[in-house]
Amino acid sequence: MRSDTVTLPTTEMLDAIKQAELGDDVYGEDPTVNRLEEMAAERTGKEAALLVASGTMANLVSLMSNAKRGELVVLESESHMYWYEAGGVSAIAGLLPWPVKTEQGAFAPEDLENAIRPRNIHFPEPSLVCVENTHNRHGGTVVAPGQLRAISDVAQAHGLRVYLDGARLFNAAVALRICVKELTKHVDNLMFCLSKGLSCPLGSLVVGTQDFIEKARKMRKLIGGGMRQAGIIAAPGIVALETMVDRLEEDHRNAQLLAAGITKVEGLKVDMERVQTNMVLVDTSRLAVPAATFISKLKEEGVLASTIGKNKVRLVTHRGIEKEDIENALISIANVTARLLGHE
Ligand SMILES: Cc1ncc(COP(=O)(O)O)c(C=O)c1O
Repeated sequence: MRSDTVTLPTTEMLDAIKQAELGDDVYGEDPTVNRLEEMAAERTGKEAALLVASGTMANLVSLMSNAKRGELVVLESESHMYWYEAGGVSAIAGLLPWPVKTEQGAFAPEDLENAIRPRNIHFPEPSLVCVENTHNRHGGTVVAPGQLRAISDVAQAHGLRVYLDGARLFNAAVALRICVKELTKHVDNLMFCLSKGLSCPLGSLVVGTQDFIEKARKMRKLIGGGMRQAGIIAAPGIVALETMVDRLEEDHRNAQLLAAGITKVEGLKVDMERVQTNMVLVDTSRLAVPAATFISKLKEEGVLASTIGKNKVRLVTHRGIEKEDIENALISIANVTARLLGHE
């Protein structure tokens, strides 16, 4: 339960890779890639899409295509782009990240308003607002359409674009039981990942207007991300969009089961309000040891988890983890906690 990125491709995906019709995608000639890109644009209600190797690459080419070097980009202070992408936002895209704190991932309109400073000779030009949905470090929380609309209203009033890091966008749509377009219609452009809950071995899609995607295609080339017979990546992506979205609900149910079980373990805390999709954040501050020690003890019991802070453990449900696995994990979690509290 370290991450939904550990999911392995399905047999159907491996068959699709074997049978994929291929061509040179740098020439725009891979029919499988073209089909996936059309599907991605259609699903999200945008004009065009671009396949890239990873979520990090998707965010990077999007930053480079949405803003010019030296401009300011408003980010959520716990966002993946700010924390986990090796500083590409400044090191490669040349932008000034302006982090804004939120309660659960969605900017409060007044906080966003305050972050967008007036145009002034002293200030970098603000050009972009980035939203993450679902929000990873906040525990897989969902940014609802109404919140996205409010964010977009503020950005638009100041002439800024809105970009969505939708690495787990389909988790958000499934959790809200809405069409993904209800979320994407409030943003200018976005990316989503195939390689997380959707179980593909790799790949992400950047989506937006024709103009934006043309720029992103050039940026992808610039950073060495132009791929040749990329249909072998696109083929499982098509299978994912056709067959893997609805089952995310199962991961969400398992996360609820896991979270509810953990709240019964003395010494551990879970904020159930944040358990909205496939992640569970566990507060281990009542244990006498850091979260890293807790997860190394869990590993000895066969339960893999990760830490996202000194006293914070993250568990992620995904394909391959069944209800029974959750029940077994709960027994291990209770045993390890009891031992650490000296109750055994
Ligand atoms: C919200 C978010 N954005 C972007 C990424 C980056 O994706 P990748 O690991 O494919 O580079 C991740 C990865 O976990 C993520 O959680």
